[in-house]
Amino acid sequence: MDDHWTLEDINWSRFDASKVDPDLLAAIKAASVVESNAGDYVAYLASVFSDRPDIKASIIRWGREEEQHGAVLAKWAELADPDFNFAESFERFRDIYRIPDDERGSTRGSPAGEMIARCVVESGTSSFYTAIRESTEEPVMQEIAQRLAADEFRHYKLFYDTLQSFEHTPSLFERAKVAITRVSEADDDELASAFYATNTKPGDGVKYDRKKFAAAYEARALSLYKRQHTNRLVSMIAKAVGIAPHGRFMRMMEPIVWKIWQRRARRAHLLAA
Ligand SMILES: [Fe+2]
Ligand SMILES: [Fe+2]
Repeated sequence: MDDHWTLEDINWSRFDASKVDPDLLAAIKAASVVESNAGDYVAYLASVFSDRPDIKASIIRWGREEEQHGAVLAKWAELADPDFNFAESFERFRDIYRIPDDERGSTRGSPAGEMIARCVVESGTSSFYTAIRESTEEPVMQEIAQRLAADEFRHYKLFYDTLQSFEHTPSLFERAKVAITRVSEADDDELASAFYATNTKPGDGVKYDRKKFAAAYEARALSLYKRQHTNRLVSMIAKAVGIAPHGRFMRMMEPIVWKIWQRRARRAHLLAA
C-alpha cells in the first residue's frame, strides 16, 4: 500500500458540473461520512488483534486509506454542491451514529469472523464504486470511483489473505452466518444516519427516521448496480465464506440475488418517495 495516491493526483480541473447527477451526489455525500468514520473500526479491530502487531499495522494503514476515501468524496461533493458542508455533516453523523465501542473482544465471534465481515464490506464498497464508475458521466467522479474501486478490491484481498493465514477457521455454517449477519446490517443505522446527516440541514426541521432514510439511501445506491455488479458482489462474498464462487450453487444464487436486489430497489424508491 506504499504507492498510494493522494488528493493532489486527482485531475480536479476536469470537473464538469453539468454532468453531476443529483441522486449520485446524495449517495456520495452519505458515503463521504461513512468512509471518514474508519477510525472507530481501526480502534475496534486493533483491540481484537492486540496480540498480532503485523495485522494491527496493516489495519492502521487500511484505515488511513478509508479516511482518504472520505476526504476525496467530501471534496468532490463540496465542489458539486457549494452548500454542502462536510465538516458540519460529519459532526451531525457522529452525533447519531457510533459503532458500539463498549464491547470487549470480537463481535463476530472470532478473529476469522471479523475478517469475513470485513470481506463482506469490502465486496460491497468495491462493487459500489465500480457501479458508479460505469454509470457516471462526470469525469472527476469517474477517476475517483476507479481509484476507490481498486483500493477496495485490495482491501478485500488484504482481509481475505489474513483470513487464509489463520490456523483455525470456523465451520462453513459459522462463516456463512457471519456473512449473512453482516449483509443484513447494511440496512442498519449507519447508512441511514449518514444519508440524513449529509442530505438534510439542522434548520430543515426534518427528524431522523431510520427506515425512511435507509430507503432514501438505498433508492439511490441500489439502482446504480447492474446485473454484473451484483454477480461480482455475490461471488466475492461466497469466496470469503469458502464457497466456490463460480460453482453450481452460486450460479443458482446469482439470479435470485438479482431479483431480490431489484425488488428491494423498487421498494426503496416507493418508501423514499
Ligand atoms: Fe473505502
Ligand atoms: Fe475499503
